[in-house]
Amino acid sequence: MILVTGGAGFIGSNFVLGWLAQCDEPVINLDKLTYAGNLGNLQSLAGDPRHIFVKGDICDEELVASLLAQHKPRAILNFAAESHVDRSIHGPRDFVITNVNGAFALLEAARGYWQGLDDRDKAAFRFLHVSTDEVYGTLGPEDAPFTETTAYAPNSPYSASKAASDHLVRAYHHTYGLPTLTTNCSNNYGPYHFPEKLIPLIIANARQGKPLPIYGDGQQVRDWLYVADHCTAIRRVLDAGRCGETYNIGGWNEMANLDVVRILCGILDELTPKAAGSYLDQIVHVQDRPGHDRRYAIDARKIERELGWRPVETFESGIRKTVEWYLAHDDWVRNVQSGDYLGWMDTNYANRATPERNAP
Ligand code: NAD
Ligand code: DAU
Repeated sequence: MILVTGGAGFIGSNFVLGWLAQCDEPVINLDKLTYAGNLGNLQSLAGDPRHIFVKGDICDEELVASLLAQHKPRAILNFAAESHVDRSIHGPRDFVITNVNGAFALLEAARGYWQGLDDRDKAAFRFLHVSTDEVYGTLGPEDAPFTETTAYAPNSPYSASKAASDHLVRAYHHTYGLPTLTTNCSNNYGPYHFPEKLIPLIIANARQGKPLPIYGDGQQVRDWLYVADHCTAIRRVLDAGRCGETYNIGGWNEMANLDVVRILCGILDELTPKAAGSYLDQIVHVQDRPGHDRRYAIDARKIERELGWRPVETFESGIRKTVEWYLAHDDWVRNVQSGDYLGWMDTNYANRATPERNAP
């Protein structure tokens, strides 16, 4: 079996659902169920003996060690993290605790467990750390995309905490020989994406008649990847990646935020037209994110060359599927838009308004 952490979040739940749709190897899913964790994402696995859910914290090294001793997984896949850049700006503490201390606790528990395995299981064991392209910092318009040898230059508390965890993973391989793998992926989108992030936020706000907030001029560029493609890449790295290596994962799909939002409005206009006008009318420019990285782009040639992976979805196909999923899952959106979510919307957007930018 495998141990997945953070498997009730956006990418983790897509990974667990995809894994169990394709094989019967059981999954222990360790998740703290923060505001971003949602057992509703895993509803279709209720009663499925292949999915063992444990509510707990990756910082709890004793708990992790006991899960490893009890279930003897052949791999640990670490998805658990605080993941939202804007939240890391308002409150970086949780990011250091989970993303740095938590990764450290997991590595320590994994090291103890791995060292006690017999030679065959030791050779087969893998610690796969799911990380981000944000560790590389920001690119100018003409710069070449990030490769696995691009120097780390994280700019937000979130990306700095992820960079620190990547370094710990690297050190555990180099020093102790722990069979680690690290993936650095670009922006994901798809089902179960929490509506604090750009794409699901725009869909939810559009549907609810609220403003569609664009930070600054909206010309910041991200490289979007459909979440199922990220999950197949992770499976491929787990199966065939070389220990101690890092693999960049991306969609070969750079787009400016304003273009993404315009495309979303176009699909919504087609699938669920307003009584009058277009969703485009709801776009507002608001104050920029402090330290906002201008451009990310991933060179994903290594994973293609070594492991034969390429994304299946184009942005066109993936974004349409995503909008259709959200239109069919209003109830999921409503369930997560309560309590903490409402407080966060107020914290993040209340003081951003810059109406003069939006005058006709
Ligand atoms: P998410 O915020 O949707 O989910 C994170 C999950 O981790 C939640 O279920 C949460 O409850 C859980 N968690 C948080 N702290 C925990 C702790 N201390 N112990 C146990 N569980 C805890 O995040 P996501 O977008 O699914 O991202 C998953 C991973 O992928 C993260 O490591 C993130 O850095 C990385 N990543 C994300 C993207 C993206 O576009 N979303 C892109 C590249 C890499
Ligand atoms: O690059 C990978 C990263 O992508 C992951 O490591 C992070 O976990 C994930 O959250 C994501 O980070 P971003 O900051 O790029 O994603 P977000 O959806 O928050 O923002 C995408 C872009 O849209 C970014 O340039 C900021 C902008 N934005 C975002 C929000 C929430 C807006 O213009 N308006 C908004 O309201």
